[in-house]
Amino acid sequence: MMKLRQFSIFLSLLALLSFAGVSEAANPCNPCGIKQNPCNPCAMKQMKKHNPCNPCSMKTMHNPCNPCGMAANPCSTDVKKNIRPHAFNSFQESVDMGRKMWNDDEGMGKAGVACLSCHADFDMLHFDKNQNFPHYVKMVGDVVTLDQMINYCLLNPMQGHELAQDSKEMTAMAAYYRSYRMKYLREHKK
Ligand code: HEC
Repeated sequence: MMKLRQFSIFLSLLALLSFAGVSEAANPCNPCGIKQNPCNPCAMKQMKKHNPCNPCSMKTMHNPCNPCGMAANPCSTDVKKNIRPHAFNSFQESVDMGRKMWNDDEGMGKAGVACLSCHADFDMLHFDKNQNFPHYVKMVGDVVTLDQMINYCLLNPMQGHELAQDSKEMTAMAAYYRSYRMKYLREHKK
């Protein structure tokens, strides 16, 4: 009697397990459950470069396998996460805002100086060294990213407030820095 009962428990467990297996394999959203699924990222390695599902070879947004085109992906529950409200439509727009801030000798800090006061004519920016950030800066005594360097100058020589990493102001400052550096490179072409 006991044996029969144990056997039937065993049978129902088996049925449950195989059911779970089937439903996993049939789930169209499970990226790894479907071996034959051409969009399966787990099978990517074996596929050729021109595989339309290879995220590295994707040019078109309308490819249903393209993780960048998620809006069209029926399996996606992703909601786009913004780092801040939309700020700029072009690089030039951000440069224009950054230029105003760079030249502002009132709003940026208590010292009453602007970035321009110390960095006019490319002074002290070491553009001749042609380094990318992060790099070691003597005044800071540390290795810093561009954003950290901007904040360091805002806090110390300018006695102002630091800018939030995700703010449009930080983007604008970094954009102006880049356009100023491009100007230097144009003027100092060998
Ligand atoms: C009172 C002078 C002064 C002001 C104002 C100033 N800085 Fe600086 N800044 C310096 C000095 C000095 C250095 C060079 C430090 C070194 O080489 O050790 C420097 C370095 C930098 C660098 C790094 C250069 C490199 O080595 O790559 C950046 C970027 C920078 N400043 C941005 C700014 C920005 C943006 C502002 C305005 C928000 C600003 N600075 C305001 C004095 C100033």
